[in-house]
Amino acid sequence: MIIEDMMPEIGEISIREKLLNCLNSNPKTLPCMLFYDKKGSELFEKITKLEEYYLPKVEIPLLISTAKKLNSEFKYCNLVELGSGDCSKISVLLNAVPKDIRQTIVYYPVDVSREAMEKSGHILQERFPEIDIHGINADFLEHIESIPENRKRFFCFFGSTIGNLTKVRTMEFMKHLGEVMNKNDRLFLGVDMVKDINVMERAYNDIMGITAEFNKNILRVANAHLGTDFDPNDFDHVAFFNEELSRIEMHLKAKKDLEVKSPLLKEKIIFKKGETIHTENSHKYTVDYIHKMADTADLCVSNIYSDDKKWFSLTEMVKR
Ligand code: SAH
Ligand code: AVI
Repeated sequence: MIIEDMMPEIGEISIREKLLNCLNSNPKTLPCMLFYDKKGSELFEKITKLEEYYLPKVEIPLLISTAKKLNSEFKYCNLVELGSGDCSKISVLLNAVPKDIRQTIVYYPVDVSREAMEKSGHILQERFPEIDIHGINADFLEHIESIPENRKRFFCFFGSTIGNLTKVRTMEFMKHLGEVMNKNDRLFLGVDMVKDINVMERAYNDIMGITAEFNKNILRVANAHLGTDFDPNDFDHVAFFNEELSRIEMHLKAKKDLEVKSPLLKEKIIFKKGETIHTENSHKYTVDYIHKMADTADLCVSNIYSDDKKWFSLTEMVKR
């Protein structure tokens, strides 16, 4: 396995700049892309195993049946996974493909988190030694044009990670992806669908408090980049469904009036009791919206695979 590093182009200075802009905005925000340091990636892995977090439980059977159906079409493809994380999804998919086909695949995980990629890439390589793994440590919003186009490519974007982008960003991303894709390329897009509010809100408010810990961990990430003195215990985890915008929102709410210092700032960051930092959006989709995304990318929806309850969808899109 090799890992190509594109992160120096993003650089620590621009991460700091981004973080400071977010904390200076009104209302305050933090970029959800930064959740996934070593601890954050581990916490997310724990979330995926929670009873309340239904998303992988519904998506995984869809991946298995789709992989079995497509089978020989994976022959000699570049399998690209955006936001590959712990590689658990691709592992399930690869396992459903016969070994003689698997050994013709080159797998390109793309993730901003080098920690997650190193750990999961090695585990995957041990499980499937016959596969070539070429990791790309990069921001998928910036670097998808550098993915080799020497063979047909299957772009996989699982786990409803696209839902963490704003709607504007989503459409910009889809347009760009559509431009980058060639005639024989395909996209497999896994998205979480709108459903009973209680089911969605439970998934982001688990009894064990792992999601709360994941949410608060972003303050430690901010401390590591900015030298701030955020104490995660000063904040409450808040997650609810915003019906108008069709998304679960995660926030961190100050338990009391607070002042946060950073050696990079002349002035303290002031929080009033009850003030929030908006840390994540997790959009929930409809079939109409999936078609809108495809139209924006100038792609054609060739299949929508879904479970009986229509809780999650895996959509296959191809060039028109
Ligand atoms: N696809 C996996 C992991 C989802 S967690 C699953 O379904 O379980 C989201 C992953 O996307 C994290 O590993 C995070 O580091 C990565 N990620 C988030 N924003 C990103 C971006 N802009 N570019 C590349 N990777 C990103
Ligand atoms: C990675 N992403 C799709 C997850 C989601 O459901 O939005 C991240 C997450 N946040 C809280 N729980 C899980």
